[in-house]
Amino acid sequence: MAHVLITGGAGFIGSHSCVVLLENGHDLLVLDNFSNSSPVALKRVQELTGRSLECVKGDLRDPALLQKLFADAKAAGAPIEAVIHFAGLKAVAESVADPLRYWDVNVGGSCALLASMDAHDCRTLVFSSTSTVYGESETFPLTETTPTNPIHPYAQTKRAVEQMLTALAQTGTWRVASLRYFNPVGAHPSGRIGEDPLGIPNNLFPFITQIAAGRMDKLRVFGNEYPTPDGTGIRDYLHVMDLAEAHAAAINHLLQSDAPLSLTVNLGTGKGLSVLDVVHGFEKATGITIPYEVVKRRPGDVPKLEACPKKAANVLGWRAKRSLADMCRDGWAWQSANPHGYRKAS
Ligand code: NAD
Ligand code: UD1
Repeated sequence: MAHVLITGGAGFIGSHSCVVLLENGHDLLVLDNFSNSSPVALKRVQELTGRSLECVKGDLRDPALLQKLFADAKAAGAPIEAVIHFAGLKAVAESVADPLRYWDVNVGGSCALLASMDAHDCRTLVFSSTSTVYGESETFPLTETTPTNPIHPYAQTKRAVEQMLTALAQTGTWRVASLRYFNPVGAHPSGRIGEDPLGIPNNLFPFITQIAAGRMDKLRVFGNEYPTPDGTGIRDYLHVMDLAEAHAAAINHLLQSDAPLSLTVNLGTGKGLSVLDVVHGFEKATGITIPYEVVKRRPGDVPKLEACPKKAANVLGWRAKRSLADMCRDGWAWQSANPHGYRKAS
Protein backbone atom coordinates (compact mmCIF):
# COMPACT_ATOMS: atom_id res chain seq x y z
CA MET A 1 0.00 0.00 0.00
CA ALA A 2 1.31 3.42 -0.89
CA HIS A 3 1.07 7.09 -0.07
CA VAL A 4 -0.48 8.54 -3.22
CA LEU A 5 -0.97 12.16 -4.28
CA ILE A 6 -4.29 12.61 -6.07
CA THR A 7 -4.56 15.83 -8.09
CA GLY A 8 -8.16 16.77 -8.86
CA GLY A 9 -9.37 14.22 -6.31
CA ALA A 10 -12.54 16.15 -5.48
CA GLY A 11 -13.82 15.96 -9.07
CA PHE A 12 -16.19 13.44 -10.61
CA ILE A 13 -13.74 10.67 -11.48
CA GLY A 14 -11.25 11.60 -8.75
CA SER A 15 -13.78 11.31 -5.91
CA HIS A 16 -14.99 7.88 -7.03
CA SER A 17 -11.40 6.74 -7.44
CA CYS A 18 -10.55 7.98 -3.94
CA VAL A 19 -13.25 5.65 -2.56
CA VAL A 20 -11.75 2.61 -4.28
CA LEU A 21 -8.14 3.57 -3.46
CA LEU A 22 -8.97 4.09 0.23
CA GLU A 23 -10.81 0.75 0.27
CA ASN A 24 -7.66 -0.79 -1.24
CA GLY A 25 -5.65 0.51 1.73
CA HIS A 26 -3.76 3.37 0.09
CA ASP A 27 -3.14 6.61 2.02
CA LEU A 28 -4.23 9.64 0.04
CA LEU A 29 -3.26 13.29 -0.20
CA VAL A 30 -5.63 15.24 -2.44
CA LEU A 31 -4.61 18.49 -4.15
CA ASP A 32 -7.54 20.39 -5.67
CA ASN A 33 -8.35 24.05 -6.23
CA PHE A 34 -12.11 23.25 -6.31
CA SER A 35 -12.51 25.21 -9.55
CA ASN A 36 -14.94 22.52 -10.73
CA SER A 37 -15.76 20.60 -7.57
CA SER A 38 -16.75 20.83 -3.94
CA PRO A 39 -14.96 19.85 -0.72
CA VAL A 40 -18.24 18.17 0.28
CA ALA A 41 -17.38 15.37 -2.16
CA LEU A 42 -14.26 14.54 -0.13
CA LYS A 43 -16.20 14.69 3.13
CA ARG A 44 -18.58 12.10 1.71
CA VAL A 45 -15.73 9.95 0.37
CA GLN A 46 -14.47 9.71 3.96
CA GLU A 47 -17.96 8.92 5.28
CA LEU A 48 -18.42 6.17 2.69
CA THR A 49 -15.09 4.50 3.39
CA GLY A 50 -14.71 5.18 7.12
CA ARG A 51 -11.17 6.35 6.33
CA SER A 52 -9.69 9.81 6.38
CA LEU A 53 -7.66 11.48 3.68
CA GLU A 54 -5.57 14.61 3.69
CA CYS A 55 -6.70 17.46 1.44
CA VAL A 56 -4.87 20.60 0.40
CA LYS A 57 -6.65 23.39 -1.44
CA GLY A 58 -4.30 24.75 -4.06
CA ASP A 59 -3.34 25.02 -7.69
CA LEU A 60 -1.42 22.48 -9.68
CA ARG A 61 0.53 25.31 -11.30
CA ASP A 62 2.01 26.47 -7.98
CA PRO A 63 5.55 24.99 -7.91
CA ALA A 64 6.22 26.23 -4.36
CA LEU A 65 3.11 24.45 -3.08
CA LEU A 66 4.03 21.25 -4.90
CA GLN A 67 7.57 21.36 -3.49
CA LYS A 68 6.12 21.79 -0.02
CA LEU A 69 3.72 18.85 -0.38
CA PHE A 70 6.49 16.48 -1.40
CA ALA A 71 8.98 17.84 1.16
CA ASP A 72 6.49 17.77 4.06
CA ALA A 73 5.46 14.19 3.29
CA LYS A 74 9.11 13.14 3.23
CA ALA A 75 9.85 14.98 6.49
CA ALA A 76 6.87 13.24 8.13
CA GLY A 77 8.35 9.85 7.19
CA ALA A 78 5.68 9.07 4.58
CA PRO A 79 7.09 10.18 1.22
CA ILE A 80 4.71 10.35 -1.72
CA GLU A 81 5.36 7.21 -3.73
CA ALA A 82 3.02 7.77 -6.68
CA VAL A 83 0.66 10.30 -8.22
CA ILE A 84 -2.70 9.96 -9.94
CA HIS A 85 -3.19 13.11 -11.98
CA PHE A 86 -6.86 13.91 -12.60
CA ALA A 87 -6.68 17.71 -12.28
CA GLY A 88 -7.41 19.57 -15.48
CA LEU A 89 -9.96 21.29 -17.66
CA LYS A 90 -12.22 19.18 -19.87
CA ALA A 91 -14.78 21.25 -21.80
CA VAL A 92 -14.15 21.01 -25.53
CA ALA A 93 -15.99 24.18 -26.60
CA GLU A 94 -14.28 26.18 -23.86
CA SER A 95 -10.91 24.89 -25.06
CA VAL A 96 -11.66 26.17 -28.55
CA ALA A 97 -12.64 29.59 -27.17
CA ASP A 98 -9.70 29.86 -24.75
CA PRO A 99 -6.89 27.54 -25.87
CA LEU A 100 -4.22 29.32 -23.83
CA ARG A 101 -6.01 28.51 -20.58
CA TYR A 102 -6.16 24.83 -21.58
CA TRP A 103 -2.45 24.70 -22.44
CA ASP A 104 -1.66 26.54 -19.22
CA VAL A 105 -3.66 24.27 -16.87
CA ASN A 106 -3.46 20.93 -18.65
CA VAL A 107 0.09 21.10 -20.02
CA GLY A 108 1.70 23.77 -17.81
CA GLY A 109 0.14 22.21 -14.70
CA SER A 110 1.40 18.75 -15.71
CA CYS A 111 4.91 20.15 -16.32
CA ALA A 112 4.97 21.71 -12.85
CA LEU A 113 3.78 18.46 -11.30
CA LEU A 114 6.31 16.29 -13.16
CA ALA A 115 9.18 18.64 -12.26
CA SER A 116 8.31 18.44 -8.55
CA MET A 117 7.95 14.68 -8.74
CA ASP A 118 11.34 14.37 -10.39
CA ALA A 119 12.98 16.63 -7.82
CA HIS A 120 11.64 14.38 -5.04
CA ASP A 121 12.45 11.03 -6.69
CA CYS A 122 8.80 10.17 -7.15
CA ARG A 123 8.54 8.86 -10.72
CA THR A 124 5.35 6.81 -10.77
CA LEU A 125 2.32 8.45 -12.37
CA VAL A 126 -1.13 7.59 -13.68
CA PHE A 127 -2.53 10.23 -16.04
CA SER A 128 -6.14 10.96 -17.07
CA SER A 129 -6.19 10.96 -20.85
CA THR A 130 -9.19 10.68 -23.11
CA SER A 131 -10.59 8.77 -26.06
CA THR A 132 -11.06 12.10 -27.80
CA VAL A 133 -7.34 11.96 -28.76
CA TYR A 134 -8.41 9.48 -31.49
CA GLY A 135 -10.56 12.11 -33.25
CA GLU A 136 -12.60 10.72 -36.13
CA SER A 137 -11.56 7.20 -37.02
CA GLU A 138 -12.82 4.87 -39.75
CA THR A 139 -11.69 1.65 -38.12
CA PHE A 140 -13.22 0.13 -34.99
CA PRO A 141 -12.78 -0.81 -32.29
CA LEU A 142 -10.10 1.72 -31.38
CA THR A 143 -6.91 0.09 -30.12
CA GLU A 144 -4.03 1.87 -28.43
CA THR A 145 -2.10 1.68 -31.71
CA THR A 146 -4.86 3.36 -33.74
CA PRO A 147 -3.32 6.66 -34.92
CA THR A 148 -4.33 9.64 -32.81
CA ASN A 149 -5.88 12.71 -34.41
CA PRO A 150 -6.58 15.33 -31.75
CA ILE A 151 -8.76 17.95 -33.44
CA HIS A 152 -9.41 20.52 -30.69
CA PRO A 153 -7.22 22.16 -28.02
CA TYR A 154 -8.59 19.95 -25.23
CA ALA A 155 -7.55 16.78 -27.08
CA GLN A 156 -4.27 18.38 -28.16
CA THR A 157 -3.31 19.23 -24.58
CA LYS A 158 -4.05 15.67 -23.44
CA ARG A 159 -2.03 14.21 -26.29
CA ALA A 160 0.84 16.61 -25.50
CA VAL A 161 0.99 15.35 -21.91
CA GLU A 162 0.93 11.73 -23.14
CA GLN A 163 3.93 12.55 -25.35
CA MET A 164 5.72 14.23 -22.45
CA LEU A 165 5.21 11.07 -20.37
CA THR A 166 6.49 8.82 -23.16
CA ALA A 167 9.64 10.95 -23.38
CA LEU A 168 10.14 10.78 -19.61
CA ALA A 169 9.74 7.01 -19.61
CA GLN A 170 12.45 6.82 -22.27
CA THR A 171 14.93 8.22 -19.74
CA GLY A 172 14.58 4.85 -18.00
CA THR A 173 13.58 6.10 -14.56
CA TRP A 174 9.81 6.57 -14.75
CA ARG A 175 6.78 4.29 -14.52
CA VAL A 176 3.85 5.98 -16.26
CA ALA A 177 0.39 5.06 -17.50
CA SER A 178 -1.83 7.21 -19.70
CA LEU A 179 -5.39 5.97 -19.32
CA ARG A 180 -7.65 6.89 -22.22
CA TYR A 181 -11.12 7.07 -20.72
CA PHE A 182 -14.09 6.61 -23.01
CA ASN A 183 -17.37 8.01 -21.56
CA PRO A 184 -17.61 7.60 -17.78
CA VAL A 185 -21.14 7.99 -16.37
CA GLY A 186 -23.20 6.93 -13.33
CA ALA A 187 -22.25 7.35 -9.70
CA HIS A 188 -21.36 5.48 -6.53
CA PRO A 189 -24.31 3.15 -5.79
CA SER A 190 -24.91 4.90 -2.45
CA GLY A 191 -25.98 8.06 -4.30
CA ARG A 192 -23.72 10.08 -1.95
CA ILE A 193 -21.19 11.14 -4.60
CA GLY A 194 -21.68 11.75 -8.30
CA GLU A 195 -21.17 14.09 -11.23
CA ASP A 196 -21.95 17.73 -10.44
CA PRO A 197 -21.37 19.93 -13.48
CA LEU A 198 -21.48 23.70 -12.99
CA GLY A 199 -24.24 25.31 -15.06
CA ILE A 200 -25.85 23.58 -18.02
CA PRO A 201 -24.26 20.16 -18.54
CA ASN A 202 -22.21 19.69 -21.73
CA ASN A 203 -22.48 15.93 -21.62
CA LEU A 204 -25.33 13.60 -22.41
CA PHE A 205 -25.68 11.64 -19.19
CA PRO A 206 -25.86 14.50 -16.65
CA PHE A 207 -28.24 16.27 -19.02
CA ILE A 208 -30.58 13.25 -18.91
CA THR A 209 -30.43 12.94 -15.12
CA GLN A 210 -31.16 16.68 -14.76
CA ILE A 211 -34.22 16.34 -17.02
CA ALA A 212 -35.38 13.49 -14.78
CA ALA A 213 -34.83 15.74 -11.75
CA GLY A 214 -36.89 18.53 -13.37
CA ARG A 215 -33.97 20.92 -13.84
CA MET A 216 -34.14 20.76 -17.67
CA ASP A 217 -37.22 20.27 -19.83
CA LYS A 218 -36.00 18.23 -22.79
CA LEU A 219 -32.95 16.71 -24.36
CA ARG A 220 -31.63 18.05 -27.63
CA VAL A 221 -30.29 15.08 -29.58
CA PHE A 222 -27.40 16.40 -31.65
CA GLY A 223 -28.11 14.88 -35.06
CA ASN A 224 -29.82 11.68 -36.24
CA GLU A 225 -28.18 11.29 -39.62
CA TYR A 226 -24.84 9.86 -38.58
CA PRO A 227 -23.79 6.62 -40.29
CA THR A 228 -24.95 4.56 -37.28
CA PRO A 229 -27.90 2.14 -36.98
CA ASP A 230 -30.34 4.71 -35.52
CA GLY A 231 -28.51 7.76 -36.90
CA THR A 232 -27.46 9.14 -33.49
CA GLY A 233 -23.88 9.25 -32.21
CA ILE A 234 -22.31 6.17 -30.66
CA ARG A 235 -20.10 6.26 -27.56
CA ASP A 236 -18.60 3.68 -25.22
CA TYR A 237 -20.20 4.53 -21.86
CA LEU A 238 -18.66 2.98 -18.78
CA HIS A 239 -19.66 3.08 -15.11
CA VAL A 240 -17.52 5.51 -13.11
CA MET A 241 -17.00 2.83 -10.43
CA ASP A 242 -15.52 0.51 -13.07
CA LEU A 243 -13.26 3.39 -14.10
CA ALA A 244 -12.31 4.01 -10.47
CA GLU A 245 -11.34 0.34 -10.11
CA ALA A 246 -9.14 0.66 -13.19
CA HIS A 247 -7.10 3.33 -11.37
CA ALA A 248 -6.45 0.99 -8.47
CA ALA A 249 -5.38 -1.69 -10.95
CA ALA A 250 -3.12 0.76 -12.81
CA ILE A 251 -1.38 2.18 -9.76
CA ASN A 252 -0.84 -1.29 -8.32
CA HIS A 253 0.58 -2.46 -11.65
CA LEU A 254 3.05 0.43 -11.81
CA LEU A 255 4.09 0.08 -8.17
CA GLN A 256 4.76 -3.64 -8.64
CA SER A 257 6.96 -3.13 -11.70
CA ASP A 258 10.70 -3.26 -11.04
CA ALA A 259 11.44 -1.93 -14.50
CA PRO A 260 10.64 1.46 -16.05
CA LEU A 261 7.29 1.36 -17.74
CA SER A 262 5.32 3.42 -20.23
CA LEU A 263 1.75 2.28 -20.78
CA THR A 264 -1.16 3.65 -22.77
CA VAL A 265 -4.44 1.88 -22.06
CA ASN A 266 -8.00 2.35 -23.30
CA LEU A 267 -10.69 2.17 -20.63
CA GLY A 268 -14.10 1.34 -22.03
CA THR A 269 -16.52 -1.57 -22.26
CA GLY A 270 -15.95 -2.31 -25.95
CA LYS A 271 -19.69 -1.94 -26.59
CA GLY A 272 -20.85 1.33 -28.13
CA LEU A 273 -24.33 2.71 -27.44
CA SER A 274 -26.25 5.37 -29.36
CA VAL A 275 -27.80 8.47 -27.81
CA LEU A 276 -31.23 6.84 -28.14
CA ASP A 277 -29.96 3.59 -26.54
CA VAL A 278 -28.96 5.66 -23.50
CA VAL A 279 -32.25 7.57 -23.42
CA HIS A 280 -34.28 4.37 -23.60
CA GLY A 281 -31.98 2.54 -21.18
CA PHE A 282 -32.46 5.33 -18.65
CA GLU A 283 -36.25 5.26 -19.13
CA LYS A 284 -36.30 1.49 -18.60
CA ALA A 285 -34.06 1.56 -15.52
CA THR A 286 -35.90 4.43 -13.80
CA GLY A 287 -39.43 4.47 -15.22
CA ILE A 288 -39.00 8.18 -16.07
CA THR A 289 -39.77 9.43 -19.59
CA ILE A 290 -37.08 11.64 -21.16
CA PRO A 291 -38.60 14.03 -23.73
CA TYR A 292 -36.29 14.85 -26.60
CA GLU A 293 -36.09 16.63 -29.94
CA VAL A 294 -33.56 16.13 -32.69
CA VAL A 295 -31.51 19.23 -33.52
CA LYS A 296 -28.48 19.82 -35.72
CA ARG A 297 -25.12 18.22 -35.05
CA ARG A 298 -22.82 19.67 -32.39
CA PRO A 299 -19.64 20.99 -34.00
CA GLY A 300 -16.67 18.75 -33.27
CA ASP A 301 -18.74 15.60 -32.59
CA VAL A 302 -17.61 12.39 -34.24
CA PRO A 303 -20.10 9.67 -35.26
CA LYS A 304 -18.60 6.94 -33.13
CA LEU A 305 -16.07 6.11 -30.43
CA GLU A 306 -15.72 2.53 -29.22
CA ALA A 307 -12.82 1.03 -27.31
CA CYS A 308 -10.98 -2.18 -27.80
CA PRO A 309 -10.75 -3.12 -24.11
CA LYS A 310 -8.35 -6.08 -24.55
CA LYS A 311 -5.13 -4.39 -23.46
CA ALA A 312 -6.70 -3.27 -20.17
CA ALA A 313 -7.73 -6.88 -19.52
CA ASN A 314 -4.38 -8.36 -20.54
CA VAL A 315 -2.07 -5.84 -18.86
CA LEU A 316 -4.07 -4.55 -15.90
CA GLY A 317 -6.41 -7.51 -15.37
CA TRP A 318 -9.29 -5.00 -15.51
CA ARG A 319 -12.55 -5.11 -17.39
CA ALA A 320 -15.75 -3.10 -17.03
CA LYS A 321 -18.32 -5.20 -15.16
CA ARG A 322 -21.32 -2.92 -14.77
CA SER A 323 -24.23 -2.60 -17.23
CA LEU A 324 -26.07 0.38 -18.72
CA ALA A 325 -28.90 -0.38 -16.26
CA ASP A 326 -26.38 -0.06 -13.38
CA MET A 327 -25.09 3.26 -14.78
CA CYS A 328 -28.66 4.63 -15.04
CA ARG A 329 -29.82 3.34 -11.65
CA ASP A 330 -26.76 4.67 -9.81
CA GLY A 331 -26.66 7.97 -11.71
CA TRP A 332 -30.31 8.52 -10.87
CA ALA A 333 -29.75 7.55 -7.21
CA TRP A 334 -27.20 10.38 -7.02
CA GLN A 335 -29.21 12.98 -8.96
CA SER A 336 -32.54 12.27 -7.23
CA ALA A 337 -30.98 12.49 -3.76
CA ASN A 338 -28.93 15.59 -4.74
CA PRO A 339 -30.98 17.48 -7.34
CA HIS A 340 -28.65 20.48 -7.02
CA GLY A 341 -25.49 18.46 -6.65
CA TYR A 342 -23.27 19.36 -3.72
CA ARG A 343 -24.41 22.98 -3.62
CA LYS A 344 -27.34 22.43 -1.28
CA ALA A 345 -25.44 19.86 0.72
CA SER A 346 -24.42 20.45 4.30
P1 NAD B 1 -13.72 17.24 -12.93
O1 NAD B 1 -13.74 18.64 -13.46
O2 NAD B 1 -14.90 16.77 -12.16
O3 NAD B 1 -12.41 17.02 -12.03
C1 NAD B 1 -11.22 17.73 -12.24
C2 NAD B 1 -10.76 18.26 -10.89
O4 NAD B 1 -9.55 19.00 -11.07
C3 NAD B 1 -11.77 19.21 -10.25
O5 NAD B 1 -11.97 18.82 -8.91
C4 NAD B 1 -11.11 20.58 -10.35
O6 NAD B 1 -11.49 21.43 -9.29
C5 NAD B 1 -9.64 20.19 -10.31
N1 NAD B 1 -8.75 21.17 -10.95
C6 NAD B 1 -8.90 21.77 -12.16
N2 NAD B 1 -7.88 22.61 -12.40
C7 NAD B 1 -7.04 22.53 -11.33
C8 NAD B 1 -5.82 23.17 -10.98
N3 NAD B 1 -5.24 24.05 -11.81
N4 NAD B 1 -5.25 22.87 -9.80
C9 NAD B 1 -5.82 21.98 -8.96
N5 NAD B 1 -6.99 21.35 -9.23
C10 NAD B 1 -7.60 21.62 -10.40
O7 NAD B 1 -13.44 16.29 -14.16
P2 NAD B 1 -13.50 14.71 -14.24
O8 NAD B 1 -14.63 14.35 -15.12
O9 NAD B 1 -13.41 14.10 -12.90
O10 NAD B 1 -12.17 14.44 -15.07
C11 NAD B 1 -10.94 14.13 -14.45
C12 NAD B 1 -9.88 14.03 -15.51
O11 NAD B 1 -10.23 13.04 -16.47
C13 NAD B 1 -9.66 15.32 -16.29
O12 NAD B 1 -8.27 15.48 -16.50
C14 NAD B 1 -10.39 15.08 -17.61
O13 NAD B 1 -9.81 15.80 -18.67
C15 NAD B 1 -10.20 13.58 -17.78
N6 NAD B 1 -11.27 12.95 -18.58
C16 NAD B 1 -12.58 13.08 -18.20
C17 NAD B 1 -13.59 12.49 -18.97
C18 NAD B 1 -15.04 12.60 -18.59
O14 NAD B 1 -15.89 12.23 -19.39
N7 NAD B 1 -15.40 13.07 -17.40
C19 NAD B 1 -13.25 11.75 -20.12
C20 NAD B 1 -11.91 11.64 -20.45
C21 NAD B 1 -10.92 12.22 -19.67
C1 UD1 C 1 -17.35 15.03 -24.82
C2 UD1 C 1 -16.18 15.71 -25.42
C3 UD1 C 1 -14.95 14.88 -25.14
C4 UD1 C 1 -14.76 14.74 -23.64
C5 UD1 C 1 -16.03 14.14 -23.03
C6 UD1 C 1 -15.96 14.12 -21.55
C7 UD1 C 1 -17.05 16.98 -27.32
C8 UD1 C 1 -17.08 17.11 -28.81
N1 UD1 C 1 -16.42 15.90 -26.84
O1 UD1 C 1 -17.39 13.73 -25.36
O2 UD1 C 1 -13.81 15.48 -25.68
O3 UD1 C 1 -13.66 13.90 -23.36
O4 UD1 C 1 -17.17 14.92 -23.43
O5 UD1 C 1 -15.92 15.40 -21.02
O6 UD1 C 1 -17.54 17.83 -26.60
N2 UD1 C 1 -25.37 14.50 -27.02
C9 UD1 C 1 -26.64 14.92 -27.35
N3 UD1 C 1 -27.23 15.91 -26.60
C10 UD1 C 1 -26.61 16.49 -25.53
C11 UD1 C 1 -25.30 16.05 -25.18
C12 UD1 C 1 -24.71 15.07 -25.96
O7 UD1 C 1 -27.24 14.42 -28.30
O8 UD1 C 1 -27.18 17.37 -24.89
C13 UD1 C 1 -24.74 13.42 -27.80
C14 UD1 C 1 -23.45 13.82 -28.48
O9 UD1 C 1 -23.70 14.32 -29.76
C15 UD1 C 1 -22.69 12.48 -28.50
C16 UD1 C 1 -23.18 11.76 -27.24
O10 UD1 C 1 -24.41 12.38 -26.88
O11 UD1 C 1 -23.08 11.72 -29.61
C17 UD1 C 1 -22.23 11.87 -26.08
O12 UD1 C 1 -21.92 13.24 -25.85
P1 UD1 C 1 -21.07 13.71 -24.57
O13 UD1 C 1 -21.65 13.12 -23.36
O14 UD1 C 1 -20.95 15.20 -24.65
O15 UD1 C 1 -19.67 13.01 -24.77
P2 UD1 C 1 -18.63 13.10 -26.00
O16 UD1 C 1 -19.11 13.96 -27.09
O17 UD1 C 1 -18.24 11.72 -26.35
